[in-house]
Formats: sequence, C-alpha cells, structure tokens
Amino acid sequence: MEKTIIVTGGAGFIGSNFVYYMLNKYPNYKIVCVDCLTYAGNLSTLKKALENPNFRFEKLNICDKEGIRKLFSEVKPDIVVNFAAESHVDRSIEGPEIFVDTNIKGTQTLMEVCRELNVPRYHQVSTDEVYGDLPLDRPDLFFTETTPIHASSPYSASKAGADLLVLAYCRTFKFPATISRCSNNYGPYHFPEKLIPLMIINALADKPLPVYGDGLNVRDWLYVEDHCKAIDLIIHNGKIGEVYNVGGHNEMANIDIVKLILKKLDKPESLITFVEDRKGHDRRYAIDPTKISSELGWLPDTKFADGIEKTIDWYLSHKDWWEEIISGEYQNYYSKMYGGK
Ligand code: NAD
Ligand code: DAU
Repeated sequence: MEKTIIVTGGAGFIGSNFVYYMLNKYPNYKIVCVDCLTYAGNLSTLKKALENPNFRFEKLNICDKEGIRKLFSEVKPDIVVNFAAESHVDRSIEGPEIFVDTNIKGTQTLMEVCRELNVPRYHQVSTDEVYGDLPLDRPDLFFTETTPIHASSPYSASKAGADLLVLAYCRTFKFPATISRCSNNYGPYHFPEKLIPLMIINALADKPLPVYGDGLNVRDWLYVEDHCKAIDLIIHNGKIGEVYNVGGHNEMANIDIVKLILKKLDKPESLITFVEDRKGHDRRYAIDPTKISSELGWLPDTKFADGIEKTIDWYLSHKDWWEEIISGEYQNYYSKMYGGK
C-alpha cells in the first residue's frame, strides 16, 4: 500500500539513514524530509535521495507552526517520524536554550499540527539517555521501558520533557503516538563531533584523540541501520501509546572503542589524550530490548565487529563529505570545546 511519511531531521545522521532505508525498502512510499539545516544538517547527505522522484526536501523549522501546518495540510502524511533535535550533550552544556526550543517546543508544535489535521500516526525518536545512567559495578542492571526517567544533561532533560509531552498527549487527547528510546548509534553520516567519527578523523590526521575523564564510561553501540529497522517495525506494527527500548547488548568502554579505531587505522596509542571530564558525565548506558524483540520481532543484524569495520571504511571512502564539514563552522566549535585542553 502507498504511504506518505514525513521525516523531520532527515538531513542529520540517523534521519538520513532512515530516509535511505525507507526509500530502498518501500519503492511505493513517498518520503518528505523536513529539516531546517542547522550545523548538524547537511543537504549533501541527501544528494542521492534528491534524485529519487519519491523524495522531497523542505527546509523548515519544526518550531514554525504556520510553515508546518501549511506543509502538512498539503502533504497529508500517513505517518510523521520526528528525528529533528539538537542532539549533542556537550553543546547542551554550553548552551541549553536551543535544546528546550527544538526538542520540547518543536515536538509540541508537530503534535499540535498533527492533532489539528488528524494525522493517523506520529513517532517520537527518543533516547536511552532519558533514563540517566547505571553504575559500572552493576552489570546486571539494564534500562527497561519502566525504568524511571532520570535525565542528567540539558540534552537528555529536553528529550525527557518531549517524551512526557508525547505520553501526555496520548492519554489526554488519544494522540496516536509511539516512542522509541535507542542506545548510541554509529555508522555513515555520523557528524564528526561525536565520539566514533571524531576519533576516526583525528586519528587519520595524526591529531590527539581527546578522551574524557578516565575513558571508562560505557555506551551500548548499535549500527544505525538496525535503529532504522526498529523504527520501521514500530511505525507499522507498534502499539499506540507504547514506548519501545532499542539496543543490541553491545556495551563498550570509550577507551576500548578508541583503541580499536587506532588499531584498525594502524595508528599509535600515543595519540590518546585524556582531557577534562564532561560535566555530569553519565557512567553507563545499557538497554534491555526484550519488549521490541518479543512483541515486534526486532533483532539487530549487524555485529559491532562488522559495523565498525564498515563505518571506518565509509569514512575512508567519503573524505569529501567530512572534509567539507570540518572546514566550516565546525572548526570554530572545535577550538571552543577543546582549545586549551
Ligand atoms: P543529528 O544532530 O545528526 O541530526 C539532527 C537533524 O535535525 C539535523 O539535520 C538538523 O538540521 C535537524 N534539526 C535540528 N533542529 C531542527 C529544527 N528546529 N527544525 C528542523 N530540523 C532541525 O542527530 P542524530 O544523531 O541523527 O539524532 C536524531 C534523533 O535521534 C534525535 O532526536 C536524537 O535525540 C535521537 N537519538 C540519537 C542517537 C545517537 O546515537 N545519535 C541515539 C538515540 C536517539
Ligand atoms: O545514548 C544515545 C545518545 O548517544 C544520543 O541520545 C545522543 O544524541 C548522542 O549524541 C549520543 O550521546 P553520547 O553523549 O553518549 O555520545 P558522544 O559521541 O558525544 O559521546 C560518547 C562517549 O564518548 C561519552 O561517554 C563521551 C565520550 N567522549 C565524547 C567525545 C565527543 C569522549 O571521551 N571524547 C570526545 O571527544
């Protein structure tokens, strides 16, 4: 059956991977990407999609209610998937305000317009960070969907605020929404301010690899395509009003990821530089994906050993993509964050 899906934040890392995943899997679906192209949005990421007649791009801010209403009235989406967000924890510590505007107010604006126009289905892409963190010495503990919200950073608090609004809309207005809370993604088009692409790119340039604190913080890494697959299942088969945790049981300490990247690139560990810790740095994330696996049959396809290999190869063969980024505004940001450390 033909469907029209609006994907917000589709010029960013996960959103663009989702656009490609859906265009490829559903040749009779129309995908409309809404993105205001912040520093993290990159239209060149969507170059191939723009050649596809089933794809359309609209430069628009999700906080712009009039613009969103006009577009949604015209497009009449069957499903809206909201990836649009300020997504970087370090930036939220430097300047929290935009996180509240985009992540909370933007989500509410989208839901209001969807409600007004009776859009049949809305999906909120959230994060495991809303649960706060787990201790390193309790490997038996995992985040489930009933773990209390306990956000640590302005970023995760803004995502948690959005989640609470989505759930409140479901209960109060019978708003037809679902939420997914995924662990750390990695793969193609990952913006080079995040751990894995930053380390690959710095190692290639023989630049220091800045590891926060003791490097023992643990993240639960999932190949981006497996996240896309989970969202595809939720928007087609997930139960309205439900939250689904997504993660592949792949916990790794930051320092081990960094050493692995250096080894794959044949670079010395002497490039590792321990720098000041992130304020309020979450110690460990670990997702229990039992619900999405048992209810929707989701299982990750890509093992970390293969995914990291593919990711490094992608960065090696797409230098033009990331060189364009690091020569721009990103460089000012970089010296502000790491200058003097
Ligand atoms: P990203 O920063 O790479 O991309 C965000 C995109 O949203 C960009 O294209 C940006 O231009 C766009 N955007 C930002 N503000 C906007 C606004 N006001 N209006 C329209 N577009 C706007 O982020 P990402 O890593 O791809 O994350 C996507 C979503 O997934 C976010 O909601 C994030 O919280 C969530 N998430 C990310 C991860 C991860 O590991 N990266 C894991 C779990 C959940
Ligand atoms: O868990 C899901 C979340 O994963 C998403 O909701 C966020 O949008 C996404 O950015 C990511 O958040 P993290 O803070 O975990 O990702 P980041 O890549 O910024 O950092 C991963 C770990 O690496 C974290 O413990 C901090 C550390 N780090 C990061 C950078 C950028 C370093 O040690 N050095 C660095 O330079």
